[in-house]
Amino acid sequence: MSEKIYPVTKPVKARALIDKDKYLKWYEESVEDPDKFWGKHGKRIDWFKPYTKVKNTSFNGKVSIKWFEDGQTNVSYNCIDRHLKTNGDQVAIIWEGDNPYIDKKITYNELYEHVCRMANVLKKHGVKKGDRVTIYMPMIPEAAYAMLACARIGAVHSIVFGGFSPEALAGRIVDCESTFVITCDEGVRGGKPVPLKDNTDTAIHIAARQHVIVEKVLVVRRTGGKTGWAPGRDLWHHQEIATVKAECPPVKMKAEDPLFILYTSGSTGKPKGVLHTTGGYLVYAAMTHEYVFDYHHGDIYWCTADVGWVTGHSYIVYGPLANCATTLMFEGVPNFPDQGRFWEVIDKHKVNIFYTAPTAIRSLMGAGDDFVTRSSRSSLRLLGTVGEPINPEAWEWYYNVVGDKRCPVIDTWWQTETGGHMITPLPGATDLKPGSATTPFFGIKPQLVDNEGKVLEGPADGNLCITDSWPGQMRTVYGDHERFIQTYFSTYKGKYFTGDGCRRDADGYYWITGRVDDVLNVSGHRLGTAEVESALVSHNLVSEAAVVGYPHAIKGQGIYCYVTLMAGHDGSDTLRQELVKHVRAEIGPIAAPDKIQFAPGLPKTRSGKIMRRILRKIAEDDFGALGDTSTLADPAVVDDLIANRQNKA
Ligand code: WT7
Repeated sequence: MSEKIYPVTKPVKARALIDKDKYLKWYEESVEDPDKFWGKHGKRIDWFKPYTKVKNTSFNGKVSIKWFEDGQTNVSYNCIDRHLKTNGDQVAIIWEGDNPYIDKKITYNELYEHVCRMANVLKKHGVKKGDRVTIYMPMIPEAAYAMLACARIGAVHSIVFGGFSPEALAGRIVDCESTFVITCDEGVRGGKPVPLKDNTDTAIHIAARQHVIVEKVLVVRRTGGKTGWAPGRDLWHHQEIATVKAECPPVKMKAEDPLFILYTSGSTGKPKGVLHTTGGYLVYAAMTHEYVFDYHHGDIYWCTADVGWVTGHSYIVYGPLANCATTLMFEGVPNFPDQGRFWEVIDKHKVNIFYTAPTAIRSLMGAGDDFVTRSSRSSLRLLGTVGEPINPEAWEWYYNVVGDKRCPVIDTWWQTETGGHMITPLPGATDLKPGSATTPFFGIKPQLVDNEGKVLEGPADGNLCITDSWPGQMRTVYGDHERFIQTYFSTYKGKYFTGDGCRRDADGYYWITGRVDDVLNVSGHRLGTAEVESALVSHNLVSEAAVVGYPHAIKGQGIYCYVTLMAGHDGSDTLRQELVKHVRAEIGPIAAPDKIQFAPGLPKTRSGKIMRRILRKIAEDDFGALGDTSTLADPAVVDDLIANRQNKA
């Protein structure tokens, strides 16, 4: 690990909203007296009815998390209406198409009309407060309109990433019993169409077999490509919005009314519906967006995430729009038409703040500096990263080559569950160390514990917990509060357990070392090993499967699958390809296995538990240190696994 330090530079400090002294002072106040601190900062959004209670949270027993509970507000109102008086003509969304010659700008006034019309369409077709609306969309402005339209009328959106398969979409529709879907005819990525409407049709059939009947599908026309059509069920967005009014009053929502559900993978079982609510989430998303990115009015801000992930929710749509920012939404991919696309877009739209993922940085670094240096990037002031640990080499390249040694690299650690940034530098306050997410944001109390739960002080390596609540925290697993308690608050009693390993150095800086549970991080996308395993065993030739991660130069982690076939069948390259195809169809392309090893047996204890530690080592080609294998039911299987490993150096 690099211990190089990049101190806050003079120009960065000069314009920064928060300097070192202010950070220390505010941080102390935020953890000493959260009621006072958040009582003050909760006012950064507009409330129809002001709150009198601020924090009411417990990580023990039944676990209950409430912020600003007697206040009333509306997220859509805060992201649009309140800006109209003074900033109606300001650009809210810059949309950059997949095709580099296509873009458009949407002002706050226009955003208001688009969102109101879509909200009225939802109402016209029976969507009510509390109903779950599934959004399965590409990166087009209508995805943001759909989110804000739901928020406006109190419907709870559940966005499913457009790269997920019909199976995965169906599972999410069924879990939250969502009967209204918003999609698009086709998406476009890297010049290729993505059949979103056809996928939706397939998903609706699968959901129907599980007795969840989708009643209406609102279809945005993006390409005009051919799709199936169910009259009475399917509605064209462009036709529907012409039939409704351009105004729709925002519904008064209680602070703790649900805003959205977002499914995310865990170490066991099916993806969980992470539930975020209204008031605290918006306060936290907006406040982190402002201070972490040092956002000043007029800045052009670009986060390259997809709205299908929490980063898109908090830092493309809700945080920026609540702050009256100009947020750029990009439909395409980093390598189309070529690997210079990001830097071209930065020049084209004069982007000041750029936020992306280490996997993208690593892959563009591999393409060579010429793609970068042929652009000016002189508008850039700040570079952010999120999604996985960033290796110091990639950090340095991002800082030196992309940022011309001028822009601080802000490495933000957080999770779907946390709603917003948790451990992160503040540009004007924090000296940077490449590879470290540095120090906690206001109100965040990190703690390291060993496997027995003993609290570790000072410099230490352990499991990362958070000991008290913050406003952006998830409130429950949709429909399964018991699972919420089990997953996050039972490993270390009374603490939120993040699932991440972490080191704290002598300066109190935090270095995330990666997941310590059975969750993979593939190109910044989170996947449960259990999900991939269950996709594999759903193939008729597979009898058993065990999936582990291994270090991958670009993706961070690759997916390594050990597969035991049904008796009488042999592995082959053709079958490997078929299994990859099968997993892609079950989950989506992001889950495609990188390596498949056919294994006649898996290393199990006498009680039948698969010893993943051994499988991880073999996948890493590091089988010299397998540790004690004497407890295995059949130690001989290990020799076969080693002999046939797929990552031989
Ligand atoms: C997991 C959460 C939250 C946005 C995207 C991912 C890993 C996230 C960092 C970072 C090291 C990171 C953690 C975390 N992670 N950001 N800056 N440094 N690791 O959200 O899909 O909920 O995944 O991503 O392992 O637990 P997510």
